[in-house]
Amino acid sequence: MCGIVGYIGTKPVKEILIDGLRELEYRGYDSAGIVVLQNHQFSLFKAVGKLINLEEKASLFESTGFSIGIGHTRWATHGKPTELNAHPHVGAVSYVVHNGIIENYQELKNSLTHEGVQFVSQTDTEVIVHLFEHHLSNVGTPFEAFKATLAQLEGAYALLLVTASEDKTIFFAKNGSPMIVGRRGEDETFFGSSDAALIGKAQEVIYLEDGQYGYATAETITLFDPHHHALQSRFTPLSVTKLSAQKEGYRFFMEKEIYEQSTVLADTLMGRLREDEIYFEELPSDLFEGICEIKLCACGTSYHAAMVATYLLERHAKIRTSVEIASEFRYREPLLTPDTLFVVISQSGETADTLETLKMAKKRGLKTLVICNVDNSSMVRLADASILTRAGIEKGVASTKAFATQVSVLWMLSLHLAGLRQTLEASEIGRQISVLRTLPSVVKVENSTHEQLRRLSKRYLHGHGFFFIGRDVFFPLALEGALKLKEISYLHAEGYPSGEMKHGPIALADPELFTIALLPEHKLYDKTKSNVEELSARDSTICSLSPLDFDKADDHIRTHSHSDYMAEFFEMMVILQLFSMEIAIRLGNDVDMPRNLAKSVTVE
Ligand code: AGP
Repeated sequence: MCGIVGYIGTKPVKEILIDGLRELEYRGYDSAGIVVLQNHQFSLFKAVGKLINLEEKASLFESTGFSIGIGHTRWATHGKPTELNAHPHVGAVSYVVHNGIIENYQELKNSLTHEGVQFVSQTDTEVIVHLFEHHLSNVGTPFEAFKATLAQLEGAYALLLVTASEDKTIFFAKNGSPMIVGRRGEDETFFGSSDAALIGKAQEVIYLEDGQYGYATAETITLFDPHHHALQSRFTPLSVTKLSAQKEGYRFFMEKEIYEQSTVLADTLMGRLREDEIYFEELPSDLFEGICEIKLCACGTSYHAAMVATYLLERHAKIRTSVEIASEFRYREPLLTPDTLFVVISQSGETADTLETLKMAKKRGLKTLVICNVDNSSMVRLADASILTRAGIEKGVASTKAFATQVSVLWMLSLHLAGLRQTLEASEIGRQISVLRTLPSVVKVENSTHEQLRRLSKRYLHGHGFFFIGRDVFFPLALEGALKLKEISYLHAEGYPSGEMKHGPIALADPELFTIALLPEHKLYDKTKSNVEELSARDSTICSLSPLDFDKADDHIRTHSHSDYMAEFFEMMVILQLFSMEIAIRLGNDVDMPRNLAKSVTVE
């Protein structure tokens, strides 16, 4: 989820671009850059790390009079956070900034390389500027070259491009990633990947829609639809506060992050799904050589994702898999053998306990893999290999989209390994890939469901506790649901395997004990149903989640009927996230910053 800004006008462009990027800091980044074009001359500045580093690099640069400029903050998806990988990316006479993922970048890069183009970065974005210049040398005008470039891009993008011959014009395109164009008066044009970058600058804006593209000068914005028909520019007043802009209109960052799971999962899957195989370009080809066992290690929500992976890796890849809580693993003198792949999972890549277990494994000579959301984090730098989850910055302390992307990466990893070990037919891998492709729509929040949960939440504010119960991968999901509720509502909740209730916990069953029962249609439904009926028979208050009606429930949340239990998993995940959030909101808690918690636990 990178940040993009652009400006055309006579005000000091460097300040406008950097201020705009600063307003996008909430989107998270690991490098940044700007380029200014004035009198056909480019001035480029890029820096890794915080914006202050970029400001220092550009400190001696001042622009007076008319100029155009584009800027970018990068959240690494392809290629490490380095200056070379930072945007803007440069061709011979052009620069581009981009948010999203170009899914076919490798084939475009190969054909351009074959034509002698020299690439300097590891990014997918750099393909755009070289492709544009390839067309520029073959077609009439820069705009025709821009159109020809867009025609070849597959995937998600919001991009701004400038070229020397057109030093009064910014070319723009939007498809799958956000882009807003704004104006102030009659002679200033602004671009931003979010309202936040335009507040205090643009007076009225156009929220571009997918497939729209065009070019802008200080005075005019020329806009086209995906069928190349010219569109009338319809501006609306920009009337949001900075914080609501950063929350993009949601009440909390957590709510925003639950809603953006749909777009974020699309990024996570991008470039990794083939017809009947999973492709991780970042994994060394020999990573799994000599590996007979996998040990996963994590904390909190990441531990729950790791638990899901134990079911999927053993089921799909037929490889012995175990999972450990990092704070326990560190001190129990574990037996480790070099034929074990040690996999740590961490949103932040900085959790102290998890990081220490990674060091332990490396010291014992094990191959290590980290599944992480933050490139260049301590764990990413330490592990032998890493897979980025591409969730973008997660501001809410209660993890949501990080969990969703971790589970989807682990599911893909189980299929990737199943392909290497030939433990699943290609047709079965292909079938599951088709289910993976539906995840962005499965996790899309339906207003009717959210409204039902908002209403329902008023009935679950008291009572002496909650059980979240499920079987198979729905047991770790139950644990995750219980954790979400605990950490933002401060109500007591436990996750339990539903088959365990009769071994003691059912003694707690009474009308004041709320049981949230996960009843997927395609995984042990009958077994789980009978467990829940035992609780209902003892007058526990039951809230069931299932595509099938369940007449023993006091409340029933009807989920969609899916072809696969993993799709049911992701739909129920969103419901549990929203359910906990609505309860916490009713209790007046700070959903984004719950008491006693930190976003990254970098101490023991
Ligand atoms: C989850 O909602 C919590 N914020 C917490 O359990 C978190 O998952 C845990 O601290 C691990 O953090 P990590 O993923 O950054 O390693």
